[in-house]
Amino acid sequence: MKISGVFCIVFIVLISMNGCDGRTKLIIPGADNVEPARGNFETPFEMLPSDLRATFTRGEEAFMKVFTVEEGLGPIFNQAACVSCHPGNGRGMPDLSLIRFSMGHNLMLDMGGPQLQDKVIPGVSYETLPMGVDKSTRLPPPVFGMGLIENISVETILSYADEDDADGDGVSGRPHWVTAADFVPTTEIGGGPGEQLGRFGRKASVSSLVQQTAMAFQQDMGVTNSFLQEEPSNTGDTVPDPEIERSTVMDIVVFMRLLSPPPRGEITGQVKRGDAIFNRIGCAACHVPTMQTGPSPIDALNRVDVHVYSDFLLHDMGEELADNRPDGEATGTEWRTAPLWGTRLVAEFLGGTPFFLHDGRATTLEGAIRAHGGEAQNAKEKFFNLSVEKQQAVIAFLESL
Ligand code: HEC
Ligand code: HEC
Repeated sequence: MKISGVFCIVFIVLISMNGCDGRTKLIIPGADNVEPARGNFETPFEMLPSDLRATFTRGEEAFMKVFTVEEGLGPIFNQAACVSCHPGNGRGMPDLSLIRFSMGHNLMLDMGGPQLQDKVIPGVSYETLPMGVDKSTRLPPPVFGMGLIENISVETILSYADEDDADGDGVSGRPHWVTAADFVPTTEIGGGPGEQLGRFGRKASVSSLVQQTAMAFQQDMGVTNSFLQEEPSNTGDTVPDPEIERSTVMDIVVFMRLLSPPPRGEITGQVKRGDAIFNRIGCAACHVPTMQTGPSPIDALNRVDVHVYSDFLLHDMGEELADNRPDGEATGTEWRTAPLWGTRLVAEFLGGTPFFLHDGRATTLEGAIRAHGGEAQNAKEKFFNLSVEKQQAVIAFLESL
């Protein structure tokens, strides 16, 4: 039997099944042995110099590695590998979501906050969610194209912000200013003292890929590293800290930096009509179709157009999408505009059912649009006031990204 990458990975984690290579295959009913034909999230940029190519490969292996207790997994953790939550380097399923909790701006570090680790290694007791806390469920987002996102200059992103809605279009959008962790090298984008622009995470609360990766090892997997040497809980893990080297974290950062976004799908007449409507009804006010990167020593990232369909700003999305949990400066109704690149591959990667929005609550694109409110209320109403044929054109456009 052929099984998809997602289930293969879940099996590796749950029952250590052998014979899975962790790579995602397209599932086409009735056909066996079908390799991805319409693109994937696993391809590095072309024409990389050989040293970068080698780092990419090392980083890819580390991203796919399933950690054991002997290697430092736990004591409490969510999953044993990066790829478990980001299957095929894409988004996860609701079962793989993380729960963050806190009380107002109190991160509740002394009560296991701000993340609920729902698994333990043998002999360790389970973490429980304290009563009456603010909770937020986060579906793992995809990790391809991170180098492009990182290389869009702060000025470019700020040029889309309109905090007080000066142009009166109902869409404001504001940057999430955050503080980088001390361990982030100042040479890294998003590192250094003072205010940094948050770009990563569903509320853009992290400014650098190094921080995102070091924290994922420590918080999501209980794997301490040279950047974060303390376990998420102080019992039950006897492996000396740090459990992995700085170089492993950095290899994964390079790997994600060099993962290219998938190519666009077929651009039919219907897709073109949908594209025009998407712009006209105001979706593109937040889902900005194209931004340019700044200078980079890596050719593939150097001053290129990025078709990411996000502005990386926070928007008030209304009550329906609210998690009512403040996260840094982001309020309980604000979210970072979700990038729309790769939308056409989401269903295949997740075994047939796509999951959209920060907690994966929508399983159709119409459902995702229907949940929009707040600053996106106008655009949403315009979408649902379109003729069925025009709505279908917008959907066809989204499914070509
Ligand atoms: C238990 C599931 C889980 C594991 C394991 C996990 N992640 Fe994630 N990852 C998430 C979730 C959930 C988010 C969104 C977090 C948020 O919104 O605060 C995320 C966000 C990210 C992002 C930011 C993407 C974006 O669009 O902003 C990167 C990069 C990332 N993870 C890399 C990694 C790496 C590298 C590892 C392994 C060291 C890893 N993750 C392990 C669940 C996981
Ligand atoms: C005011 C800004 C804004 C406007 C206008 C807007 N969106 Fe969004 N969109 C967002 C944000 C923010 C999210 C993420 C919400 C979440 O995760 O809960 C999102 C998420 C989505 C998603 C889900 C993506 C995913 O991978 O989970 C789709 C699809 C989408 N928008 C399509 C549209 C379409 C089509 C329109 C026009 C009818 C539109 N959006 C208008 C801000 C906007």
